[in-house]
Amino acid sequence: MSDGKLLTYDPTGVFLAETGISPEDLAGVATQLEAARTETMADVQLFHSGGTVPKEKEPLDSAFIDMPNRLLAEYRADRDASELGRILKTAERLRESVDRVVVLGIGGSYMGARALMDACCEPYFNELSRADRGSRPRMYFEGNNVDNDASQGLLRLLGNGKAAKSVDDRWAILVISKSGGTLETAAAFRQFLAKLQCSCGDDADALGDLVVPVTGTSGRLFDLAGAIGCKDIYNVPDGVGGRFSVLSAVGLLPAAVLGLNVVQLLEGAVAMNEHFQQASPGENAVLDYVGVSHLLEEKRGANIRIMSVWSKALEAVGLWYDQLLAESLGKAERGATPLTTVNTRDLHSRAQQHQEGRRDKLITNVIVDNWRCDPLAVGHSELNQDKLNDLADKTLPDLMAAAIQGTNQAYRDDNRPTADIHLPDTKEHAIGQFFQMMMLATVVEGRLMGINPYGQPGVEGYKNNMSRILGR
Ligand code: PA5
Repeated sequence: MSDGKLLTYDPTGVFLAETGISPEDLAGVATQLEAARTETMADVQLFHSGGTVPKEKEPLDSAFIDMPNRLLAEYRADRDASELGRILKTAERLRESVDRVVVLGIGGSYMGARALMDACCEPYFNELSRADRGSRPRMYFEGNNVDNDASQGLLRLLGNGKAAKSVDDRWAILVISKSGGTLETAAAFRQFLAKLQCSCGDDADALGDLVVPVTGTSGRLFDLAGAIGCKDIYNVPDGVGGRFSVLSAVGLLPAAVLGLNVVQLLEGAVAMNEHFQQASPGENAVLDYVGVSHLLEEKRGANIRIMSVWSKALEAVGLWYDQLLAESLGKAERGATPLTTVNTRDLHSRAQQHQEGRRDKLITNVIVDNWRCDPLAVGHSELNQDKLNDLADKTLPDLMAAAIQGTNQAYRDDNRPTADIHLPDTKEHAIGQFFQMMMLATVVEGRLMGINPYGQPGVEGYKNNMSRILGR
């Protein structure tokens, strides 16, 4: 648990005379930011009221905002019947019966789950023994490509249809698609389902236990789930779009299967909702992040938004945000280009450009204040040819802190705008806050720019062309 501590956003490093913005610039957009916040929250009411949605607001997928509050309230009122209670029961059933779970989904239908696994599970989780994993299944992600060798490789790992004799070789599928018709996921589902069926042998009922779909209330996948006899089917709620769905069953079911604390995850999101609604500009992580990002883009042409994460566990969280921002605001020839970097790794591959290349970048560091594992010291050695005995008592967190400080200083010396997000840790509560912060920020920024963050018109074009080429 993060002891309920809130993440913080520190924009000090963007206050630069020639190349950044000033505190006055930021204070100058406070009224616009508050108006965008009011509109964002009014859209939640509009959605739930069932009132007429103006054309320019369609699709209005604002229901993700209060979804964590609703899921938790429902769970507290009736644990067994609530959606969260049912998700936890399905997760427990799968944990007891299988050792591997394949999540099939693409884009918003898998990136959140992947991010949660990498951030909140132990490093190298899939490589640990079942005992070391606390009987939690290994998890793999497919249906997010049409990559022949990747699919063949995973099917081989799963035994290629070999009859499962014990929990150690039994596996299950979570198939996630809101539309239920996305080709990558649908093709993978057909292929993996066929092998799963073989692995169940004569047990005709097993398939219904081992396939759990998350989809809309109608569509091809929904129909298929009925034909298979799936015991548990979860819904992507109305008013929640793909890339805003991580805190629905889309992300919660895989997270619960991994044994993550989904209540803490949702509580983190609820805490961010409260902060967003109550804190004033200047003290509001969401509004300040949007104000800084928007001003740097408008005033300085900084349309490359680098999320510089200082922990390997956060790489997939960064990629989740890349997708959220790119698909939500990359419209009408506008919208910043997101790019995740992982440091210190990428200091050796990208930092040169970020420090001395074009002045078109805003860097937002994501810094983890507490590591999961005990600090590892460099250590003393008789073989001191590397001259590291001077640092023998320093730990990897000490080296990381020095790298963060040194890099920020170098960027500042070069007048490169840099802001810091501090996460208390990478546990569920903190990640829930971060997800909600970034989803809210994306919507607020869209409203500020006059761009509907929810639609995804470009992707429709690619999907239609692909179908035409395949003669579907
Ligand atoms: O954010 C989005 O809406 C997309 O990335 C979708 O999640 C992605 O296209 C997958 O769609 P579906 O869940 O319908 O298969």
